[in-house]
Amino acid sequence: MIKAQFQVFVSPEAVAEAVAAHIAEVVRARPETVLGLATGKTFVPIYEALVRVSVETGLSFAEASSFNLDEYVGLAPNHPASFRRYMEENFFRHVDLPAERALLPEADGDAAAACLAYEAAIVARGGIDVQLLGIGRNGHIGFNEPGSAFDGRTQVAKLTPSTIAANTSDFPPGEVPPPEAITMGIGTILEAREIVLVATGAGKAEALARAFLAPPDETCPASALQRHGHVTVFCDEAAFAGMGHQAKA
Ligand code: F6R
Repeated sequence: MIKAQFQVFVSPEAVAEAVAAHIAEVVRARPETVLGLATGKTFVPIYEALVRVSVETGLSFAEASSFNLDEYVGLAPNHPASFRRYMEENFFRHVDLPAERALLPEADGDAAAACLAYEAAIVARGGIDVQLLGIGRNGHIGFNEPGSAFDGRTQVAKLTPSTIAANTSDFPPGEVPPPEAITMGIGTILEAREIVLVATGAGKAEALARAFLAPPDETCPASALQRHGHVTVFCDEAAFAGMGHQAKA
């Protein structure tokens, strides 16, 4: 029995439309929704679609709050590759989500204090209603790399060489990603009431299959999602290729 619902689409664009429609429905039903947000290439078309829905239908985020999964340690918020900058460019500046409730870990100061403050801020908001997640080729979620504890809290994590290589193209020429990031822990992520995992492209097929077809194991961080009761995977056919037919909704 696969412990997640799968929604499989023909293309990344169709995945983006479906994820945006789902988030829009959640926020319409509960304007004060607390969103858990992700960055990365997978989410660029998703924010684009969500902004379009917001503009076309008047969907407001004025009562909502958001917590991003992660941020690089030591990057100023306006660094071109910071996740703050990504969020501003792809989402925040296009919608009416209040700036004081659109949070990312504050990773350019005292990182240990920022981790504790982030956990406290999530609790103070009543917890995360819907957490968006991408998946790394090595099965990471947030920056929880293979070997991360399933009960981990928001912490400073070391990036693996494969993650650094995958993210180098987001940096200006000649720069590489910092070796560390603040990330919500897997335990933090699992406390979200609903989880939406998004995977597109053949490069994610192996990680997705490992996450859901084998028993949960810390060598594949995303396999921890099997321990959550409300996970929906939105993926394209290329990412679904390793799953076989049993999981399709
Ligand atoms: C981003 C994050 C990462 C990415 C993952 C996939 O906030 O936490 O786990 O979701 O690395 O990245 P892309 O979408 O660039 O393949």
